[in-house]
Amino acid sequence: MRTQVGIVGAGPAGLLLSHLLHLRGVESVVIDLQTRESIEQTIKAGILEQGTVDLLRQTGVGDRMMRDGFVHHGINLAFSGGIHRINMYELTGGRAVMVYAQHEVLIDLIAKRLADGADLRFGVSDTEVEGLATEQPTIRFTHGNARQTLECDFVIGADGSRTSTRFLIPEGKVRTDFFRQYPFAWFGILAEAPPSSDELIYAHSERGFVLISTRSPKVQRMYFQCDPATNVDDWSDDRIWEEFQARLAPSGATVQTGPIFRKDVLQFRSFVCEPMQYGRLFLAGDAAHTVPPTGAKGMNLAVADVHVLDRALGAYYDSNDIGLLESYSRTALQRVWRGQWFSFWMTSMLHRFSDATDFDLRRQLAELELVTSSPTAAKNLAESYVGLPLT
Ligand code: DHB
Repeated sequence: MRTQVGIVGAGPAGLLLSHLLHLRGVESVVIDLQTRESIEQTIKAGILEQGTVDLLRQTGVGDRMMRDGFVHHGINLAFSGGIHRINMYELTGGRAVMVYAQHEVLIDLIAKRLADGADLRFGVSDTEVEGLATEQPTIRFTHGNARQTLECDFVIGADGSRTSTRFLIPEGKVRTDFFRQYPFAWFGILAEAPPSSDELIYAHSERGFVLISTRSPKVQRMYFQCDPATNVDDWSDDRIWEEFQARLAPSGATVQTGPIFRKDVLQFRSFVCEPMQYGRLFLAGDAAHTVPPTGAKGMNLAVADVHVLDRALGAYYDSNDIGLLESYSRTALQRVWRGQWFSFWMTSMLHRFSDATDFDLRRQLAELELVTSSPTAAKNLAESYVGLPLT
């Protein structure tokens, strides 16, 4: 088998890149270890930046998102000083975010790729990539009991945080020490309940952080900061709701309860792989970088990576120009590090660290008061939250 671009990973980065390349007439094959069902059902974050929304719409995969998603013009920061709205729409000259779950984006992208005749291989195994330092790399994999060899011009490593492609870059050619582990995690739930708020609430409390998000008028997504070793089975619905209430009480916010039908623990890490390229291998999305979830930048950074990569591959196929491919890593990393800063900032402003003293708590409250009372500080948060335009 032969294609132009071999893409390892059918997540937001891999599928969107395949879609964008198709629109410019470049062929790709996408492979993934997981089944289509598992990809379409895995619960992840749900906030799309303005630039992500615009790109999905402009490229013909935004119909269901525009119908079923929810545009949010603001967020709330809650702490002992009360609940304060950040009017992102006004502060950014009319930009907003969309609440639309990542797996819904994947459902839309897979449907569109298949309708456009794409070659997507789900449930593959034993992937082996060779020849990255040559002009004709190959991807070997097993699909439906048959061993396949895919010859391509480029390999895209878009296989998420459990990446194998990142490890194809030889030692000495890459820095992988940009890593930070956090002493906490998020306990996430999905509940059948009415929304607790018109817009998201990011809440600080001495008991730890809470995030009130939503998925639909009937299904709510919420998180509370927890120990990374937390076992979800130790938490009954009643105990979970009591914890939410206790953490929201200092600000005066309240939570609408209902049956909880999903409980999970999300680990917190920051990681950047530099550079995001080796020979004919280009990394995109979580395969190259991970952010802590506060601020929901993960999927948006993946989208921004492939937006850059699509144009770089386009320049190569249109006019044999490798300039944009050569600068891909540098261009993408600029935004990645901005995302790292923002996710770290939001995390550190809102979470209780295990060694936090009363001094630290007072300092966090001063910062929250600054961000919610100074239009300059609020604008800083709003611009990063809705996301830099895709350039
Ligand atoms: C969601 C997740 C986030 O990390 C965030 O900052 C906001 C919302 C969510 O899953 O809805």
